[in-house]
Amino acid sequence: PLVSGAEVVLSAAKAGRGAGAFNVIQLEHAIALIAGAEQVGAPVILQISENAVKYHGALKPIGVATLAAAAASTVPVVVHLDHAMDRDLVTEAVSLGFTSVMFDASKLEYADNVRATAEVTAFCHDHGVFVEAEIGEVGGKDGVHAPGARTRPDEAAAFVDATGVDALAVAVGSSHAMTERTAELDFELIGQLRAAVDVPLVLHGSSGVADADLTRAVEAGMTKVNIATHLNNVFTDVVRQVLAEQPALVDTRKYLGPARDAVAAEVARLLTVLKAV
Ligand code: G3H
Ligand code: ZN
Repeated sequence: PLVSGAEVVLSAAKAGRGAGAFNVIQLEHAIALIAGAEQVGAPVILQISENAVKYHGALKPIGVATLAAAAASTVPVVVHLDHAMDRDLVTEAVSLGFTSVMFDASKLEYADNVRATAEVTAFCHDHGVFVEAEIGEVGGKDGVHAPGARTRPDEAAAFVDATGVDALAVAVGSSHAMTERTAELDFELIGQLRAAVDVPLVLHGSSGVADADLTRAVEAGMTKVNIATHLNNVFTDVVRQVLAEQPALVDTRKYLGPARDAVAAEVARLLTVLKAV
């Protein structure tokens, strides 16, 4: 079923488990992510980013399809709006029935980030929607990797108090869109943030993090772990391989289907690595 962000993220944080959050671009992703979670019986977070909305030209078609897939699942599924900078998009996601939102004003100055995030949080809470925000910008979304960005624990704690957000994305050494799993996480900082901040912590750019470090990050205090690029890699590898082997193939199901199934298997594996089960 479709469940609230609070149900999955807060219970994972309490139990010291990770919560896997994976991005939906095509409908195949939504189906694959749910299938993978069902294989291991774990809850899962399906997230649609503002960038993916720009690709589709609108939120509603992919959003409604993802919500319908979530409603039909046998495991708890959260449908989350990822990296939203546009407040109208937040309003639309809430009205469509998304159960979680990330409002990303991390590019703004601290005081402006606080003001905008507090307003969006109040609106989402009026509608029972879970809110994630970011402090200390995790780079890489614009192709510029910034693995050196760090969130200060005192600023993180003050930000949560001032905004009322339910979960906090922090910069601890990962960077978005890495295709090699070579990120070096600052585990000491994760521990300090865990001690300073009383809401669940979110790791972005986790495609760059190796399996053992994903587990260690959860053990050190991260809860929601966002992985997108790595699964696109898995998906596209299969498409490339099938098309290379069968150059005459034209039925899209014949290469998207195997790619979807490979993503499902990798999600099942990652959920175990993240201690989400
Ligand atoms: O919000 C989404 C993520 O942070 C995913 O980042 O593509 O580097 O795994 P990634
Ligand atoms: Zn991210």
